[in-house]
Amino acid sequence: MNSLAPASLRDVAQRAGVSVGTVSNVFNHPEKVSAAVIARVQAAIDELGFIRNDAARQLRAGRSRTIGLVVLDVRNPFFTDVARGAEDEAADAGLTVILGNSDENTGRESAYLDLFEEQRVHGVLISPYGDITGRLDRLRQRGIPAVLVDRSSGDLSFSSVSVDDHAGGRLAVEHLVDRGRRRIAFVGGPMQLSQVTDRLAGARVAVAAHPHASLETIETDALSVIAGRQAGVAIAARAPEDRPDGIFAANDLVAMGVLQALLMQGSTVSVPGEIALIGYDDIDFASAAVVPLSSIRQPSALIGRTAVELLLAQAADPDVAPRQVVFEPQLVVRESTGA
Ligand code: RIB
Repeated sequence: MNSLAPASLRDVAQRAGVSVGTVSNVFNHPEKVSAAVIARVQAAIDELGFIRNDAARQLRAGRSRTIGLVVLDVRNPFFTDVARGAEDEAADAGLTVILGNSDENTGRESAYLDLFEEQRVHGVLISPYGDITGRLDRLRQRGIPAVLVDRSSGDLSFSSVSVDDHAGGRLAVEHLVDRGRRRIAFVGGPMQLSQVTDRLAGARVAVAAHPHASLETIETDALSVIAGRQAGVAIAARAPEDRPDGIFAANDLVAMGVLQALLMQGSTVSVPGEIALIGYDDIDFASAAVVPLSSIRQPSALIGRTAVELLLAQAADPDVAPRQVVFEPQLVVRESTGA
């Protein structure tokens, strides 16, 4: 053995007086090896300072121990909670998670899918921005399964985990109407996101069910605090009689921005007195807001864990039928709608 070159699997086998296959079994099928031989192999590993070449092992095994996860906006606590749940479930299965942020950009989304294909990851979890069904099909043909996160699979060809956003939107606006609000505004965007359009559709159903309620849509270019603040400044600048008396923000970040604008931009708008406000996701900041935010809760960590469960099922048996798991949204009432 060349003393300068890193020890190889063969060097370990020679030092322990066993075959290379036995050393491989010590790593991958220790139940097939006696305790005495395991001890001899471990002693040889320690003496030689052997380090497993994981990339080569993963390639030989044809499957990585890494899962690729692409989220829409890594700054959004909803997605960091999803990632945490996915990571916990992956760790239970001896896998790790690489987190990618598409930033609601199709180019970045595609670049991460290229990277995960090159790395031959164990599987891909993605909250899609663009239309990537064809791309995911190609990954599947290369033995890399995918699960849609926070979005149902339109053609049911992929497993997915999401919340019924239509029901969530309806729940949010029914709550505002129950609180006596009649001039409702939906604030959110871009409309490319099904999360936005599904919530808006649910809001419309709630308003249509009440003869004296109306709904206006204020589209934003992102689901962010800044976009919410811009919408809030515009609303506060209106004459009081032209303002909505209830606002449903497409997610909590937008709601936090609206709240900031209504309360801190020198406006005289009171929440919930003049305008009741409800968000979506129930991120931790919602309850800690200057006016604790009512919201529609999503089981974000459970979404992440469930997505990994579905992915592992697909990886174990590519012929297993895709499953659509849809959780029910939950109304959480706080001061911003007059708890
Ligand atoms: O960014 C997309 C939004 O949809 C998140 O805030 C969360 O609500 C997801 O469902």
